[in-house]
Amino acid sequence: MSEVYFEKENLSPNPFEEYLRCFSLAKEKDPKAADNVILATCYKNRPSARTLLIKKVDNKGFRFFTNYLSRKGRELVKNPYAAMVFNWPTVDIQVRVEGTISKLSKTESESYFHSRLRGSQIGAWASPQSVVVPSRSFLLDRVKELEKKYSGLDVPLPPYWGGFILKPNYFEFMFLRDFRLHDRFYYQKKGSKWKIERLGP
Ligand SMILES: Cc1cc2nc3c(=O)[nH]c(=O)nc-3n(C[C@H](O)[C@H](O)[C@H](O)COP(=O)(O)O)c2cc1C
Repeated sequence: MSEVYFEKENLSPNPFEEYLRCFSLAKEKDPKAADNVILATCYKNRPSARTLLIKKVDNKGFRFFTNYLSRKGRELVKNPYAAMVFNWPTVDIQVRVEGTISKLSKTESESYFHSRLRGSQIGAWASPQSVVVPSRSFLLDRVKELEKKYSGLDVPLPPYWGGFILKPNYFEFMFLRDFRLHDRFYYQKKGSKWKIERLGP
């Protein structure tokens, strides 16, 4: 655990920059896990959470890709608010973000879809995400059929598959320190500026 303590003044005034600084520390230590995020959605007062991969972060927001007909997809369309948690134990940092959700454009989803391995593109067609399936062989048979159908062709973007972007109005950074006296700060959007405050850990 680091013995370097943080004050508000040590943080970037731009929370996206602070996120990217922390992310690059985490990525350096654990390249595979740094992109993992827990996404929480809420529908009819019932929260649900799952792991996803974050694909792109810039000043506009946090982008991820999924099946729009999955549980999270349906929940996000009906209630377009979400929260994310990044836990990076190799660098003792936790980041939380909260904000509003919108779908990415079809062009952006298409461009990401075609950057994926062909097997993952076929998989997006084969798997009815979050729906009961009878067996593993049901999925494997669908994969075989789809491989035949698209043999020698580009796999098109499924109409129910694409990206979302979470546009945060709240960030929280926690830098773990001894005896649970962690350095914990939030950023809240006030007009075009971000207000930063320290919180009890
Ligand atoms: C490491 C990891 C990464 C994952 N990445 C994604 C992802 O990027 N998109 C996705 O739809 N599901 C991803 N999943 C699967 C989700 O956790 C989840 O099981 C699935 O999306 C269905 O969730 P839902 O029923 O709440 O919609 C990932 C799972 C793990 C363990």
